[in-house]
Amino acid sequence: MSSIEKVQNEYPEDLCTLLEAAYGKGFLSEGGTEAIDRLVEGFGLKDKKILEIGSGMGGAALHLVQKFKALVTGVEINQPMVDEANKRVPQSLKRRLEFVYYNDINHLPFGNESFDFAFSKGVLLHLDVADKLSLFREIFRVLRPEARVIIGDWLSPVHGCWGKRMREVAELDNLSLFANTEEDYREIARQSGFKLISIDDDNEVYAKYNRDIADYLQNPETRKRLKGKFAEERIQAESDSYRVLSDAIREKELLIRRIVFGK
Ligand SMILES: C[S@@+](CC[C@H](N)C(=O)[O-])C[C@H]1O[C@@H](n2cnc3c(N)ncnc32)[C@H](O)[C@@H]1O
Repeated sequence: MSSIEKVQNEYPEDLCTLLEAAYGKGFLSEGGTEAIDRLVEGFGLKDKKILEIGSGMGGAALHLVQKFKALVTGVEINQPMVDEANKRVPQSLKRRLEFVYYNDINHLPFGNESFDFAFSKGVLLHLDVADKLSLFREIFRVLRPEARVIIGDWLSPVHGCWGKRMREVAELDNLSLFANTEEDYREIARQSGFKLISIDDDNEVYAKYNRDIADYLQNPETRKRLKGKFAEERIQAESDSYRVLSDAIREKELLIRRIVFGK
């Protein structure tokens, strides 16, 4: 099975429902709109063309269009997510926002120099270094000169090896996550033609996001709302796992980074 097929199978509908319940409508990663604002802070996005890699259920893209007046195309390897995200786009925004399926990291379905920005949050840890490099070469091709790439990703301090807590979390949701480092990103920038502009540490806020999600899933009101859909034990296990994640982040076993590349 290719790495793309494997990741497609790792996001079944019930996991997406549970993740949206934890993160907010449209989001499959933590922090909601506040986390998106942190990532794009300082960039003028009005009427800029943004390519979002791994757009999931479309929450980030919708926010970038609604709040920052950007034009966004999201690409996803998961067809059901693309269909659902497109269904949720309000009629009035159809000309500014669309979601597109692709399944080849060696070929993004766009012409050369089509976008001003690439954006990706909580996605690239699904790709090993070789696949990241192939994808970044493609991103380089579809970006205009002077364009920026804005990434939110989970990194490890050690290449190829997660700490104990991260292994536990990946196992619970059956996710294959690659332990890449800041140095890996420097190398990917060098080899794909980008300049690495900055790497910022976001651990403190993400430790809090994950602790808040653990508390939210523990709350009796949330339990009541999710009761018909998920077994109590599953919600408890997810809540525990967000607490483990929060500890992993606080103790720097997991590094949450905002990375900016320039063309
Ligand atoms: C944790 S979710 C994050 C989704 C979205 N960025 C968000 O923050 O809500 C990871 C997403 O990455 C997608 N994905 C994994 N590998 C990908 C790839 N090579 N290209 C595009 N999307 C990918 C998955 O299908 C999934 O939707």
